[in-house]
Amino acid sequence: MTTAAQSTATVDEAEIDRAVALLRAGELVAIPTETVYGLAADAANPQAVATIFAAKGRPADHPLIVHLASAAAIDRWARDIPPAARLLAAAFWPGPLTLILKRQPGVIDAVTGGQDTVGLRVPNHPVTLALLREFDAGNSAGLAAPSANRYGRISPTCAEHVRAELGDRVSLILDGGPCAVGIESTIVDLSSGAPRILRPGFISATDIARVLGDTPQDQSSKTDEAAIATPRVSGSLAAHYAPHTPLRRVAGEQLAAAVQAELLAGQRVAVLASTLPEPFEVVSGLVWQTASNDAESYAHDLYANLRMLDAAACNLILVEAPPSTPEWLAVNDRLQRAACGSGASE
Ligand code: TXA
Ligand code: MG
Repeated sequence: MTTAAQSTATVDEAEIDRAVALLRAGELVAIPTETVYGLAADAANPQAVATIFAAKGRPADHPLIVHLASAAAIDRWARDIPPAARLLAAAFWPGPLTLILKRQPGVIDAVTGGQDTVGLRVPNHPVTLALLREFDAGNSAGLAAPSANRYGRISPTCAEHVRAELGDRVSLILDGGPCAVGIESTIVDLSSGAPRILRPGFISATDIARVLGDTPQDQSSKTDEAAIATPRVSGSLAAHYAPHTPLRRVAGEQLAAAVQAELLAGQRVAVLASTLPEPFEVVSGLVWQTASNDAESYAHDLYANLRMLDAAACNLILVEAPPSTPEWLAVNDRLQRAACGSGASE
């Protein structure tokens, strides 16, 4: 892991006060984080948490991550905390890592989806850290927040994305600029036995192994029937993070021919690829977005690129398949689910 660019957003104290007052009154506030924007409510208020599910259109049995001001707050939310959790929190918080731990009895079912575990994370964004510190108020209070998108859709990586999709359903959107990482946090389950990665992200299995001495199991690619029937992680559903336009991944060497065939068939095609080959420079019916060759920059821009291509009124989005090497794991995970969620057959 290299260090993701830190947000330089400035903190407006009056706006933080306003956000805290709204949250204490049970309202929804959209918050910037280093991964994606979240849709936050008081994690101890069942009615407020119910509003999150209504706004997203998300099934009520899907658990939410509780965002905390610091690692000192985890004992209010989790019990039987293994040493590995403390080590990972010390190494990566604030940062793009969510820990799944056994929940304290008082944690409400609306947050945990009725499970005996709770997801916890301290996000690394100056605006949201300021908000969490004030909201915590010495009581380790936390904010339940899923990504601030409609259920199954692309996560938002700037305030404008939230405004477009959920603007009429939130009381306030805190604009903290574009998200530094751009894809959702790595989720590590420490609630039973050996650590397991439930969702890959910016913090890799190697980063975790460096802290724990052992490589965690990777459960994130389990998209089989059993996993789909019991969605502990909604991001683990085969179909997720999806554009409305059908999306297909194509190997680099087959991309030009695939684009040509679609254009000849009269289709409008949007493409996300590392280079723009010469024959396609000015072709009608074609929208081409160049993507980075570097996995972290690619991830940073991925959701904004997909939103842009989705809005280009094309029949199809073709994505040049990135390499299958470990540093591309999280990007490939999101692309695979986007392809599946868009309904296109690959
Ligand atoms: O980066 C992130 O994690 C962002 C920002 C806003 O923090 N949040 C996010 O939340 O991606 P959401 O709800 O879109 O995805 C969180 C995932 C869900 O798939 C949920 O099922 C899983 O975390 N999750 C939450 N609590 C869990 C638990 N107790 N056990 C297993 N999975 C859990
Ligand atoms: Mg989400």
